[in-house]
Amino acid sequence: MRYKNIFNLGIAISLLTCSPFIGAQSQGKLKIGFMLPATGTYAALGTAIDNGFRLYVNEQGGKIGGREIEYVRVDDESDPSKAADNVNKLIKRDNVDVIVGSVHSGVAMAMAKAAKESGTLLIVPNAGAVAVTGPMCAPNIFRSSFSNWQPGFAMGEVAAKKGHKKIVTITWKYAAGEETMKGFKDGFEKSGGSVIKDLTLPFPNVEFQALLTEIASLKPDAVFTFFAGAGAAKFVKDYAAAGLKKSIPLYGSGFLTDGVLDAEGVDAEGILTTLHYADNLNNKRDQSFRLAYAKTFKLQPDVYAVQGYDAAQMLAIGLSATQGDAKNITTFAQALMKSKIDSPRGTFTLSSSHNPVQDIYLRKVIGKENVNEGVASKALADPGLGCKM
Ligand code: BEZ
Repeated sequence: MRYKNIFNLGIAISLLTCSPFIGAQSQGKLKIGFMLPATGTYAALGTAIDNGFRLYVNEQGGKIGGREIEYVRVDDESDPSKAADNVNKLIKRDNVDVIVGSVHSGVAMAMAKAAKESGTLLIVPNAGAVAVTGPMCAPNIFRSSFSNWQPGFAMGEVAAKKGHKKIVTITWKYAAGEETMKGFKDGFEKSGGSVIKDLTLPFPNVEFQALLTEIASLKPDAVFTFFAGAGAAKFVKDYAAAGLKKSIPLYGSGFLTDGVLDAEGVDAEGILTTLHYADNLNNKRDQSFRLAYAKTFKLQPDVYAVQGYDAAQMLAIGLSATQGDAKNITTFAQALMKSKIDSPRGTFTLSSSHNPVQDIYLRKVIGKENVNEGVASKALADPGLGCKM
């Protein structure tokens, strides 16, 4: 009898020590600091990211890397001037294990600086700031979304193939707009096209009228634009109301029409954009993701929801390898670098600067969908200029 008890105790001890998540249990809850906009022109984008992230976590039974999750949320208002304070509160006051954010490139750059200095794990679920996976890159910084350059470059090549020669660009004057336009020029001008004028207005200004009048007088072959969220909806409506839609084709990076088609209505019909997601990809992963998202949130998902879902998925891949330890950056990064991430957008890998290498789709608005018209750029990688790990 005594031997039997000792034997059972031995089995219990060896089961416990062999459990992959034994370390995870002793570490307690994983504190995730969400720094996303809950107000302002990008508010809906923040909500979709938050939804997508929680959907993935719930599919895993509420745990990542064997640890239950505690969320701490900050509304960053898409305001770069408040970003350093906001992120430092999450890192220093709330002692989060991981930070997730943000939507706005200027806010994300402040987050990347703080993450680099503190060594805290950062996953960027939208903001495309080139610097984050360029000069500011670091072993503990990852992106589940795109760089601003990627959709711009893909559309530059599409516009050149369509035979356009003279293009006017219009966008908000901050990193996302400027870097998207740089990508567009890189793709467009190598084939002999030229951008004859770059029009800008400050973020998040939506007084487009004077600039639309200027476009009419410049008479370009086409217009290329970056706007997103509520600002994108207003731009698409104003462009049509100014009578330009009939005479000057409007192209955009896909944020122009993603998540905003209800607000844009018929004014968006037929617009061509480039992005790493579309509404009818019909791969198995996407089908189950779209069903689950619609059932849970009574909403159709968009690119932002996909990026949130994949941010959680990337965190899970890394933390499974470290048994829930968010400080073991080397093992976390190694696991992600050798993974193919099974995203609703199609599988993607990470570049050496930790940015997705992914297909960029050409999409056309038909009714309430951004319909896939084929791959515009296969496995497109951001150049990652200036990144030294
Ligand atoms: C950005 O600021 O990087 C951004 C914002 C909204 C959509 C896409 C990019």
